[in-house]
Amino acid sequence: MTLVKWIEFRVIGDGRGDLVALEGNKNIPFVIKRVYFLKNMKSDHPRGFHAHKKLKQIMICLAGTCQMLLDNGRSKESIQLNSFSKGLVIENMIWHEMHDFSEDCILMILADEFYDEQDYIRDYQEFISLVQLEV
Ligand code: TYD
Repeated sequence: MTLVKWIEFRVIGDGRGDLVALEGNKNIPFVIKRVYFLKNMKSDHPRGFHAHKKLKQIMICLAGTCQMLLDNGRSKESIQLNSFSKGLVIENMIWHEMHDFSEDCILMILADEFYDEQDYIRDYQEFISLVQLEV
């Protein structure tokens, strides 16, 4: 499985601005049950540091930039989010951390399930143990 998977969106741009449409089971590969967004992050306060047992998410950087670290327990990759025209797929069982937020960074996340704290793995060693059990 490749760690970094992007979905490119069609940007409908004209003299009035840019429009991107997101549709469940069309350009988003699941039925969207939840949307949340993050803003006013601090560059020295990274977020995330968890994986989800089942949840699948798409993260879109609507403004600004940040670094995203993805880790499947075997390899890690760090990439920059800097475009509203593509979404980063965050599969289940991927440890993820967001770092180095620009002041104007706004992240929007689409999720295939409602919020459920029981779905979170917030302990890295527990994450590694669960990944090893899967092999
Ligand atoms: P958390 O997932 O820890 O944020 P991050 O991964 O960005 O560091 O969530 C922060 C708080 O917000 C935590 O108390 C749970 C709550 N929360 C909700 O109530 N609903 C949601 O959909 C999400 C994502 C978080």
